[in-house]
Amino acid sequence: MKTALSALARRTAAPPISWLMATTLARPKLISLAAGFTDNASLPVREARDSMNDLLRSPQTGQPALQYGSTAGEPKLREWTANHLRRLDLGRQHVVPPGGKNYSADRVLITNGSQQLLYMTAEALCDTGDIVIVEDPTYFVFLGIVQSHGLRARGVRMESDGIDLAHLERVLESLKRRGELPRLKLLYLVTYFQNPTGITTSYAKKVAALKLLKKYERVAGHPIYLLEDAAYRELNFGRDALLRVQADRQVGPTTPKSALSVRGFADRVIYAGTYSKPFASGLRVGFGVLPEPVLTAVTRIKGNHDFGTANLLQQTLAHAIATGRYEKHLGALRRRYASKAAVMRAALQKHFPPAVKWDESGGGLYFWARLPRGVKTGVDSKVFKAALVAEVLYVPGAMCYADDATRRKPDYEMRLSYGNASEANIREGIKRLGVVLRKVV
Ligand SMILES: Cc1ncc(COP(=O)(O)O)c(C=O)c1O
Repeated sequence: MKTALSALARRTAAPPISWLMATTLARPKLISLAAGFTDNASLPVREARDSMNDLLRSPQTGQPALQYGSTAGEPKLREWTANHLRRLDLGRQHVVPPGGKNYSADRVLITNGSQQLLYMTAEALCDTGDIVIVEDPTYFVFLGIVQSHGLRARGVRMESDGIDLAHLERVLESLKRRGELPRLKLLYLVTYFQNPTGITTSYAKKVAALKLLKKYERVAGHPIYLLEDAAYRELNFGRDALLRVQADRQVGPTTPKSALSVRGFADRVIYAGTYSKPFASGLRVGFGVLPEPVLTAVTRIKGNHDFGTANLLQQTLAHAIATGRYEKHLGALRRRYASKAAVMRAALQKHFPPAVKWDESGGGLYFWARLPRGVKTGVDSKVFKAALVAEVLYVPGAMCYADDATRRKPDYEMRLSYGNASEANIREGIKRLGVVLRKVV
């Protein structure tokens, strides 16, 4: 008998994340440096409980929180989100500068994690066979969306401050030559402490990328959007951030400005953000700032998905923000991740062979280790198998590269997360990996 499954269902491959999680669960002794989970021990139990208690103490506040909300999201949270982004980008200016209206709450859509925003944005812009340009490497769950929807991806190499603009231009040129620009819909960039490399994109590169995309729009015949994924923006714990957090718990402009602030391009930037990483991934509240007509399209799609993110969770978050619990927690979280990153760095220095390279990122959850080319790290490699025997798991680098037939997928890297492992497990996990690597490098 034929299957009743849709083309999309038949096409959708098992996400690597499911496999990684199943592997972790099946081996209780395994130290996982693979999961992008947030730090369990610092999840804000008291802050969330106090906020929920406050909300549910009286029918006046409890009943609205337990009722459906609107598709676009809790108004106070949208307002705060818009103001917060404006402050992050433009500082504490009271007068709204040119471009400041990009940060209007009307453009903010609250979603079930930023993941839902990424999914709906791809759905709103792309038909099967359309093309997206991604970083090489990129966030592998976004690659799942690309695969599932039958989209084609082109990868652009990265430099220490973001994508290689010359390479981006060559990719755009080649699409133009082949008459494929009308299929190109968006450039997806993870701009802060990127998952998986830890790289932060400079503001200058965002400006230049937007200008380049604009240049090719005439031939494309439609807008080409920059989808800026800023999931890790608030997890900045570089030296400056630490000093500032100690002096002043308010968040200030310590990371490069977002693409939202680029003058003249407000209608081409889709910004995806999340409260999962800086507060609680279990609340799973994220957001987008979108230009028309994408905003209306995505809001309608969300109307069909779920007609609104869980109201109680949004209100809990809004309350935690209003009472200062959010900012206080974020300050503590930054110090904790700074410490865990330092533990991983020290372990890498001590246990990994000198031929393995990595960079310091100053934020996010990851180290991206580059082995000598030729030493494979994929799931079928000797290194991966030996790591599993040693009860330690990492994300093979190849998982983070799009299927792009114009280049070979690099297969000699690994993503190492200090997000959820304890400091003791980070030390032990890196030590075990070091033993494996010293035999092959
Ligand atoms: C780069 C990036 N974007 C988006 C997300 C989605 O996070 P959430 O849906 O919890 O907001 C993640 C999660 O790990 C991520 O790493």
